[in-house]
Amino acid sequence: MPGIAPQAVLLPLTADTDLPSSFLDDVISGLTSPQKSLSSKYFYDETGDRLFQRIMECEDYYLTRCEMEIFRDFTADLAVPLNIHQSAFDLIELGAGDGTKTRHLLDYLERQRADFRYLPVDISGHILEVLAQNLENTLPSVNVVPTQGDYFDALQRICETSERRKILLFLGSNIGNMTVEDCSTFCQQLSSMMNPGDMLVTGFDLKKDPKTVLRAYDDHEGLTREFNLNLLRRINEELNADFDLSCFEHYQTYDPGSGACRSYLISQCEQAVTIAGERILFRRHEPLFMEVSRKFSHADIEALAGESGFSQISEVCDRKGWFMNAVWLKNL
Ligand SMILES: C[S@@+](CC[C@H](N)C(=O)[O-])C[C@H]1O[C@@H](n2cnc3c(N)ncnc32)[C@H](O)[C@@H]1O
Repeated sequence: MPGIAPQAVLLPLTADTDLPSSFLDDVISGLTSPQKSLSSKYFYDETGDRLFQRIMECEDYYLTRCEMEIFRDFTADLAVPLNIHQSAFDLIELGAGDGTKTRHLLDYLERQRADFRYLPVDISGHILEVLAQNLENTLPSVNVVPTQGDYFDALQRICETSERRKILLFLGSNIGNMTVEDCSTFCQQLSSMMNPGDMLVTGFDLKKDPKTVLRAYDDHEGLTREFNLNLLRRINEELNADFDLSCFEHYQTYDPGSGACRSYLISQCEQAVTIAGERILFRRHEPLFMEVSRKFSHADIEALAGESGFSQISEVCDRKGWFMNAVWLKNL
């Protein structure tokens, strides 16, 4: 893989051969529970990565443009609270994707002569290759050490090999793809793996006009619909299943009270799907829950920091006030 520093051998990409059995277990367990569901972490095969890159560019999906504005136009506001000259540090990005926004921060850190390595983590080996290639082309002097894997497995491996101060990035509102309970557990687990003085920069999509939120996930181009259906196609291909994609329709809801925006695929008829020999029955109009994308208030974000062992030391919003990158310091 081009653009990867020699240290990459310390943190080898995990073998994809582990995927099918846990993938199969997760799929069967989700489809046999009373409210059928699929885990959104499996959206990102190569086709899913490409579809998500198109979603990020589409007019209705405001999130990427808002966070890009913060990273491009307010880079110093974001970076100064990170104390980049205090000591050498590892900049670890969880669920890095193609890293387009992060590039602005990396460029700033290079120009400020900060002593750092960039460690992107993603479950998709394909998107890490795209990211590494992009950085090789645009910022060849940045020391990039990618790790493929689930957030905590990868972070654990990184912690075992580095004693440096850690600055974690968790961008793109990935945090919104968790239930309230999972989100709180996730932040507490992150905090338990960090040392006092380490920092976490998280992207939060803020509560706003409900129509704007709904349109972002029910876009005119039908990209979110395709993105959801792609997971059924992936299950067909990788787990020997027989989903008929034409028998499912995408349906999106947004509850402005709780801030939960939910994606479903609705079975259009009574049908049976076979997955690795297991028969799953769907009733007509039965919902298959695909993903939640939660929206936050400023108070929600500060409360989450407090209950997870962090203090919020800074926040940067885009000009419309639709998106926030919060900087949290791990408490003593
Ligand atoms: C919504 S995209 C956002 C990408 C990037 N953070 C951004 O803001 O553009 C989510 C990314 O997280 C990765 N991802 C999802 N679940 C993951 C998990 N459990 N562990 C590691 N990566 C994960 C996906 O492969 C995908 O690249």
